[in-house]
Amino acid sequence: MNILGVESSCDETGVALVECHASGVPTLRSQALHSQIDMHQAYGGVVPELASRDHIRRVLPLARQVLAEAGAALDQVDMVAFTRGPGLAGALLVGAGVACALGAALGVPVLGVHHLEGHLLSPFLSDDPPEFPFVALLVSGGHTQLMRVDDVGRYELLGETIDDAAGEAFDKSAKLMGLGYPGGPALARLAEFGDPTVFELPRPLLHSGTLDFSFAGLKTAVRTQLLKLGSNVCEQDRAHLAAATQQAIVDVLVRKSVAALKSTGLKRIVVAGGVGANSRLREQLNAECAKRQARVHYPELALCTDNGAMIALAAALRWQRGRAVVQNDYAFNVLPRWSLAAA
Ligand code: KG4
Ligand code: ZN
Repeated sequence: MNILGVESSCDETGVALVECHASGVPTLRSQALHSQIDMHQAYGGVVPELASRDHIRRVLPLARQVLAEAGAALDQVDMVAFTRGPGLAGALLVGAGVACALGAALGVPVLGVHHLEGHLLSPFLSDDPPEFPFVALLVSGGHTQLMRVDDVGRYELLGETIDDAAGEAFDKSAKLMGLGYPGGPALARLAEFGDPTVFELPRPLLHSGTLDFSFAGLKTAVRTQLLKLGSNVCEQDRAHLAAATQQAIVDVLVRKSVAALKSTGLKRIVVAGGVGANSRLREQLNAECAKRQARVHYPELALCTDNGAMIALAAALRWQRGRAVVQNDYAFNVLPRWSLAAA
């Protein structure tokens, strides 16, 4: 069974071919990605209309490239999977339209996949895949959630952000500091030269006793600190502030992840989504989990941010378990807002 996966929910067009059998971990045959970062950089953030138009330009050439690299013909595709949501409506429609057109032309089933399900299952493409059940920390540009994952399609929300997502906190703070878009990696790079203890920033909801997060206040604290420093803020203070911002976000994410392991009694956690690429988060979470004999699983670094492989993989794992609700009429729709627990 060959599954072609198409991701187009935001600012990356991803296509991949995954092979799976009735049982066993599916394998990635090939993947290709086009990032729109250069295009959106001039605007300081994603421009939805430009994103949709660029997905249209990229998706078919990427699909051709993926098939060529896998040495597979188009008629060897047995299912097409696409990101049905959540994400930007226009961007999602491009992937959905292409997937359904391909499915109709080939006469094969089409499956709409939840973007966050793709992220949280992506460690199954690593050399050291997790075993169910586990806690998942989903940290992307749009979402921050802790889930209990008992199996593919069996997700229980344990806690989530009540305002900004962790990636958004990185991006918005970075923007205030003039670091451009996407801010997460830029802020993390600057933080390497700073001391996280020089400036004191809040850790919202750290002691709330729940597994919910709140990051909106952090961005306000960064703004206030920048105003205090004035327009001549030196490079070293900027680095200290970047380090303090990163540390505040990481402290909250790690504390709540450990609390989720405690409250579920589970000994395994999967970290997925773009912020999962942050090395400070990895260091601190690895250390805390090691103390508690808990295992941490990450996707391969290249699969932390958006990609087509995770979408094809999620479809493969659902198909193996008879949980793939395919669309045989090719009358597609997308769900820009979609709760994972309902997927
Ligand atoms: O999962 P993702 O690629 O897209 C969404 O589904 O949102 O995540 C993108 C987010 C952005 O907010 C980006 O700034 C953040 O992940 N990010 C990072 C790092 N790499 C990406 N944040 C902190 N440190 C990083 N190294
Ligand atoms: Zn994502």
